[in-house]
Amino acid sequence: MVAQKNIVLVGFMGTGKSSVGKIVAETTGRKLVEMDALIEKQEGMMISAIFAGKGEKYFRDKERKVVQELSAKCGLVISTGGGVVLNAENIADFKKNGIVICLSATPETIFERVKNETHRPLLKTKDPLAKIKELLGVRAPFYARADVTITTDGKKIEQIADEVVQAAR
Ligand code: S3P
Repeated sequence: MVAQKNIVLVGFMGTGKSSVGKIVAETTGRKLVEMDALIEKQEGMMISAIFAGKGEKYFRDKERKVVQELSAKCGLVISTGGGVVLNAENIADFKKNGIVICLSATPETIFERVKNETHRPLLKTKDPLAKIKELLGVRAPFYARADVTITTDGKKIEQIADEVVQAAR
């Protein structure tokens, strides 16, 4: 049997990577790996505590190691953290063995989805919408490196998952 390629979901915080990833894993018979949850397990700390106690650089180095581990495997749906694209080597590694699909949304949609959540260290600011716009501006060229981009505004999770499955065929 030919090894199944990985389906790698990238995209900004609040674009639905985790919820979509669950459905895509179920419908394609792949194992789901949540990168942030894996990092939390390996470190024994929440992401927010890693950022606060050890700093963003430590987190990014750890994230890089996990990308190296996961991109050596196959048959996975990998739901990444929103900043994984910032290191071009991460995307290059994922592409060797899989398709990289970016979920996108407008800053306003993202703000509506994340405004009542408290676990994202980068959005713990006075004006999260402004921060979202700023980060999206900086990151746009990095997200553009994905193989495929799927917009998620106004769509149900099931529809987005379906589009991901079609794109990965
Ligand atoms: C981050 C996104 C988070 C998490 C960390 C950094 C980012 O993941 O990895 O807080 O830089 O955009 P989600 O995209 O799952 O929220």
